[in-house]
Amino acid sequence: MIVQDVLIIGGGAAGLFCAMEAGKRGREVTVIEHREQVGKKILISGGGRCNFTNMHAAPENFLSENPHFCKSALARYTPWDFVGLVERHGISYHEKELGQLFCDLSARQIVKMLTDECQDAGVRIEVNCKVESVEKTAHGFNVQTSLGTIQTTSLVVATGGLSIPKMGATGFGLNLATQFGLEVVPTRAALVPLTFDEKALAEYRDLSGIALPVEVRCHDGCFAGGMLFTHRGISGPSILQISSYWKSHDELRVNLLPSRDVNLWLAERRRERPAAELKTILAEALPNRLAQRIGEAFSGGSRPLRQYRESELREIADTIQEWSFRPAGTEGYRTAEVMLGGVNTNELSSTTLASKKVPGLHFIGEVVDVTGHLGGFNFQWAWASGYAAGQVV
Ligand code: FDA
Repeated sequence: MIVQDVLIIGGGAAGLFCAMEAGKRGREVTVIEHREQVGKKILISGGGRCNFTNMHAAPENFLSENPHFCKSALARYTPWDFVGLVERHGISYHEKELGQLFCDLSARQIVKMLTDECQDAGVRIEVNCKVESVEKTAHGFNVQTSLGTIQTTSLVVATGGLSIPKMGATGFGLNLATQFGLEVVPTRAALVPLTFDEKALAEYRDLSGIALPVEVRCHDGCFAGGMLFTHRGISGPSILQISSYWKSHDELRVNLLPSRDVNLWLAERRRERPAAELKTILAEALPNRLAQRIGEAFSGGSRPLRQYRESELREIADTIQEWSFRPAGTEGYRTAEVMLGGVNTNELSSTTLASKKVPGLHFIGEVVDVTGHLGGFNFQWAWASGYAAGQVV
């Protein structure tokens, strides 16, 4: 029997961070990871450069049934605290856009930083270790694992969300929450490409590969950024962002040319270049293939601008600035960056991430019903929630 103060299940971003913090306090800590390596999602994040935080991280960047829950942890461990750690480890980084900080070289540096910190703090990391069962005892928990029984006072569940099963994602944390009677907010894939139905596919398949800046809306979500037509639907940063707000059967509204008032612009161009064809003018501001498609979609095909009535130009402008359609679905957990939903925050203390019902049991990171926008926010939640639990376990 192995006896530990703290057992952390899941060697990802939140688990490693919590481990190093608890280790620094002199606690005996073991992290168990069922895969052959820790931090696999960190390694593939940010295209291999890990968008490790966002300088503008604020509670508004997170979705949860209780939008106030994340405030305490985020306030106590800020992006600047993480940047300080990155700098102490000599990792060079840059801002890509909108406060998103990436490693200059490789995400491997972030995993090395975390494992070095864990090593300095005396944390044991066991990979290829499977949990068979978890049982509450009078003094803590008995956890049956492929290494044998581990007895622990504090048990931290840091097994992440359901996205990308081939990277090690499991429903372990959600099942454990249910085993202990904690409520789980229904989960769904988020930060994920959206798919077209058969009809839309037939209509838009030939646009595949076109990328353009758009503004997209759904419910109270509104995001500006790139959109990409794919051979299954649409993707790109603005679409990944809005996917977190989109539910089955909802309509999306996409402004394909948010940088100008298209109605005014077309009227102006008709005065200046009356003999120019609609599709030629549209191609001044839109990708060529899309301009052709929109130009030809209206009755009579693309004609010289002088032949269009004002009402027709308005209709064209509306089509461009209010393109509305209902996606058929999402690409699901196979490609989603994160999971929405998770352990209900009503079950947890916002300062320690401890279960209110089960003393000594903590949930941190993505398994909790706190999901960030795209842009480094999800890692900031992993660090901040790991830090919060790491101070008390
Ligand atoms: P995480 O998934 O990191 O770790 C969970 C760990 O638990 C894994 O190592 C897993 O193998 C292990 N585990 C699961 N079940 C287990 C079990 N039964 N027993 C033992 N171990 C178990 N975010 C961001 O802020 N910036 C970015 O650049 C990106 N980029 C990005 C790219 C891609 C492709 C994906 C899929 C995701 C991102 N993210 C991101 C999101 C980010 O990776 C994610 O939110 C955090 O890794 C969540 O940290 P956790 O520690 O909660 O889970």
